[in-house]
Amino acid sequence: KPAVRVALLGCGTVGSEVVRLLHEQSADLTARIGAPLEIVGIAVRRLGRARGGLPVDSGLFTTDALGLVKRDDVDVVVEVVGGIEPARSWLVEALRTGKSVVTANKALLAEDGAALHDAAADGNADLYYEASVAGAIPLLRPLRESLHGDRVTKVTGIVNGTTNFILSSMDATGAGFSEALEEATELGYAEADPTADVEGFDAAAKAAILASLAFHTRVTAADVFREGMTGVTAGDMASAKEMGCTIKLLCIAERGPDEAGVDSVSVRVHPAMIPRSHPLAGVGDAFNAVFVEAEAAGQLMFYGRGAGGTPTASAVLGDIVAAARNRLTGFRAPSESNYAHLPVRPIGAA
Ligand code: NDP
Ligand code: HSE
Repeated sequence: KPAVRVALLGCGTVGSEVVRLLHEQSADLTARIGAPLEIVGIAVRRLGRARGGLPVDSGLFTTDALGLVKRDDVDVVVEVVGGIEPARSWLVEALRTGKSVVTANKALLAEDGAALHDAAADGNADLYYEASVAGAIPLLRPLRESLHGDRVTKVTGIVNGTTNFILSSMDATGAGFSEALEEATELGYAEADPTADVEGFDAAAKAAILASLAFHTRVTAADVFREGMTGVTAGDMASAKEMGCTIKLLCIAERGPDEAGVDSVSVRVHPAMIPRSHPLAGVGDAFNAVFVEAEAAGQLMFYGRGAGGTPTASAVLGDIVAAARNRLTGFRAPSESNYAHLPVRPIGAA
């Protein structure tokens, strides 16, 4: 069968690992999909940047991402650049013209997921975004598919690897905030601007995506109550330890009746003191863990590596395989374009 042609937008921490894994697993992936995957172009910001011997022809690199997206010989657009614009314009263009899209861009999905879902519906195109929440953990597919017959009532989790790494280091070794943040950045966990991590914007974006999928509604980052973890001091952590607790940055999304009995959702992100016996207390390093509570299924827990190039590339690759298979078989990704709007309950200071 002819190759499924992939345009890669971004070749940084995540994108370079996508390239490496696609190359290393080429034969297996071809067998699994039933056709080879071929990278036909890679958009970056700086053509001259050293890329550590990536196994691709240097002629594939371009700074013209939109031009790449518009090419007729592209089937699947993989976006691992980040940010709202120009990523939104690239992806809307790709989806409207029937190209499959795989993205890890939680900031965009949380700010204007509707633009992407609507463009996917317009173009009858696939939109996959497993890597946008909790890195390698298969979490969105269960929410988008397996739990679709159930009624999810609550999602609670640790969804930011950088802050979990920092808080875990503060707890285990008494390390200072700056030292731990520097290490998290070196390990590729932190965003380009770590403010998004430590001030809770990244977790709030993920919470919005989770709440939207769990409750079949449209929650944006602006709907999420957010408090970051920069105010957590070594003294706070020591006090928590004395009480048999630790401190974690939690995201909590709930669905239920408000005071007037109206079905609604509330979503919040903030540091919380939890007892050591709590299953989330033992989630260390840059790991993530998410509890999902559903009426029929009961409690489910998802756990794994929530950040870093290679784990995130695993989720991106899974989506590329799904999108490629769909192109060959005519199947489609689940669509979120018809999600209703449940009211979002405002939350005061936690
Ligand atoms: P990086 O900053 O490491 O890489 C970004 C890439 O995008 C770089 O290759 C950069 O080019 C390229 N780029 C930036 N601007 C443009 C532009 N205007 N046109 C073309 N290319 C551009 O980011 P990450 O790999 O860490 O993250 C990518 C995405 O994945 C983000 O949405 C992030 O939130 C998400 N994500 C990241 C995770 C992680 O652990 N790192 C985990 C889960 C999701 P150049 O190489 O020339 O600088
Ligand atoms: N900066 C993010 C984190 C990357 O630390 O969790 C994964 O989304």
